[in-house]
Amino acid sequence: MKSLKHLLEPITIKNMVIPNRVVYPPLGTLLTNDDGSVSDALLAYYRRRFQSGAGLVINEITSVHPSGSSVASQLAAYDDRYIPGLKKLVDIAHSQGSKIAAQLHHCGRESYDLLREGKAIGPSAIPSRIYRRAPREMTQDDIQEIIAAFGQAAVRLREAGYDAVELHGAHGYLLHQFLSSTSNQRQDEYGGTMIRRARFVTEIIQRVRKEVGDDFPILLRISADEYVKDGFTVADMQEVAPLFAEAGTDMLHVSLGTHGSPAGMTSAPIEYEPGFNMPLVRMIKDVVDVPIIGVGRFVDPFLADKYIAQGDADLISFGRQHLADPDFLQNAIKGKSDQTMICLACNQGCIEREMLETKSIRCAINPETGQELIYPAQPAARSRQVWVIGAGPAGLTAAYEAARLGHSVNLFERSSEPGGQVSLAARAPFKGAYGEWIKNLTNKAINAGVQLSLNTEVTPAMIIDHNPEAVILSTGAKESRPPIPGIDLPHVYMAGEVLNDRHLFNNGHVLVVGGGLVGMEVADYLREKGCKNLTLVEELPKSPVTKAAAHGYMLHNRFKKAGYTLILDACVQTIQPDSVTVLVGDTEQVLAPIDHVIIAVGTKPVNELQSILDSRNITCVTVGDALMGRRIMEAVEEGALAAWNL
Ligand SMILES: Cc1cc2nc3c(=O)[nH]c(=O)nc-3n(C[C@H](O)[C@H](O)[C@H](O)COP(=O)(O)OP(=O)(O)OC[C@H]3O[C@@H](n4cnc5c(N)ncnc54)[C@H](O)[C@@H]3O)c2cc1C
Ligand SMILES: Cc1cc2nc3c(=O)[nH]c(=O)nc-3n(C[C@H](O)[C@H](O)[C@H](O)COP(=O)(O)O)c2cc1C
Repeated sequence: MKSLKHLLEPITIKNMVIPNRVVYPPLGTLLTNDDGSVSDALLAYYRRRFQSGAGLVINEITSVHPSGSSVASQLAAYDDRYIPGLKKLVDIAHSQGSKIAAQLHHCGRESYDLLREGKAIGPSAIPSRIYRRAPREMTQDDIQEIIAAFGQAAVRLREAGYDAVELHGAHGYLLHQFLSSTSNQRQDEYGGTMIRRARFVTEIIQRVRKEVGDDFPILLRISADEYVKDGFTVADMQEVAPLFAEAGTDMLHVSLGTHGSPAGMTSAPIEYEPGFNMPLVRMIKDVVDVPIIGVGRFVDPFLADKYIAQGDADLISFGRQHLADPDFLQNAIKGKSDQTMICLACNQGCIEREMLETKSIRCAINPETGQELIYPAQPAARSRQVWVIGAGPAGLTAAYEAARLGHSVNLFERSSEPGGQVSLAARAPFKGAYGEWIKNLTNKAINAGVQLSLNTEVTPAMIIDHNPEAVILSTGAKESRPPIPGIDLPHVYMAGEVLNDRHLFNNGHVLVVGGGLVGMEVADYLREKGCKNLTLVEELPKSPVTKAAAHGYMLHNRFKKAGYTLILDACVQTIQPDSVTVLVGDTEQVLAPIDHVIIAVGTKPVNELQSILDSRNITCVTVGDALMGRRIMEAVEEGALAAWNL
């Protein structure tokens, strides 16, 4: 039986009464001012997130010391001048009825800038897994200074009105670096066995407790298992978790991994099921008496309720779901979960954008996230008659946003279903949720008043006949078919045809031409269908699907495990009936036998209607892949912007 009964029950931690068991966990945003103070963009972002009604909200990593900011602009609490800004965050949370904690943080060796400037500190001079440079080993004085800084920052936060603090002991930052023998090889009392390595953390907890008094709740975030070679395991964490509770921790927030763990376990990709971390959470709960927050790919409040009912955790964090749709909890309460946009765990707009591109937080499927200051909440001053042509992610988003703002919207799609290329993407292993997203977005658009016409190709004649007032051209892209000699042979197929099950290859040797996301996903699709022999050729010297992205890492892993071959720097010259000639570097090679060839070499924009629209002076904005083949994130964002600017 689906229930929210347990999730909506209050829980009391010291003097903090949390009205329900939903937690907004810390999510770094890069939306702060350059000096680490609270910005208007940050306030707007949190105002929207906290509307979820989560009982406890924990704001992002908040630096306790200048030597501990991952980036110079990281939210800070190491000086009294930060208190007024932080107070505003507290007011927003309290105005929603939520309790608020700040996450006290020191990055240790995980700061690109500090490492480059020679200012990063860590337990030992062992290079960062991410940035490959070593910090300076902390002296005993450094250790005492940082312990004191945690205490002082906690006092500032209490003064700012916070209900609690969370100490960041997870994800490979300073506290975690002390816990792990892969980063701590100290010979003094802060190094050695797991219990000795836990000393720094326990001393911080004790100092914070001493500074804030007995009534003020202290939370500690831990990674239950480090998920790196030779790192600590859940058994090690079970040994020290009771010590943390004894030292003064009132609640443990049980995460996993480090940002350097392969496969991005910390913000797990779509390959991981919602709640996948709960077995580890349970193992920590079993050894401590304090309440536990569980986390890991939660998107559904009803599932969270189940885990709480079973006693596996006391509260549940919903991280990226708050980015995809902060209304998820209220929708569940009102019986409208089918209107919730479920997080795709793609990490495109959030963690990977921040870590790989150093850009502020967004969400691939929610154009409002991170853009709250420009997001138009009120209807447009003048309602317009708008045609949106093409119902892929760009068109669906544009149509929904335009209708929401009071415009009269006709959305045309030439195929029998909306979704565009996402309908193909959703056929790849693990990506069924992409199809669900399109279904919910379509429902949302129709509910907002969009007139959707399927099986309707907009032609120049239609445009001449109807002369629409404004057009958003979201006609997307079609697969490129390069002029390779032999491409018209009967055993050569386009990636889309294969993903649509029009051709299946369980036997014979398959050659995929093009190693971008589509090529890799076609290979993954065939792997799932039982294909044994596959070679993928890519003309770039490096795979375009980076292993630094969690999904990319998982794709490469499955590819390798399947025994498939990846040939880089390889340009296909000709396709023969049973072989393919390839230029690998400067050397010509004949790959044989080859029974099936699949072409996945990117897309070409479809935007032929542009000229007729221009010639008739019809206001038109071209968005998404119709402009240039890219990703869902750009399609959604450009579709939304076009609607906002009508
Ligand atoms: C197999 C595969 C996997 C992918 N995986 C990912 C991924 O994991 N992450 C990611 O970010 N991106 C992924 N992509 C890319 C992503 O799907 C595209 O970037 C995105 O769909 C572009 O959206 P769009 O709305 O601009 O265009 P499209 O999705 O191409 O939609 C355009 C729509 O316009 C319609 N149309 C065209 N002309 C007309 C006309 N004249 N009249 C009416 N309708 C018309 C088309 O039928 C189509 O439905 C993947 C693509 C493929 C093929
Ligand atoms: C953009 C982004 C920023 C994050 N920043 C923090 C952070 O500041 N502190 C922290 O402890 N965890 C951080 N995390 C991890 C999340 O708190 C959360 O544990 C993780 O996303 C898994 O939860 P989810 O699957 O519900 O998203 C971040 C995750 C993302 C996606």
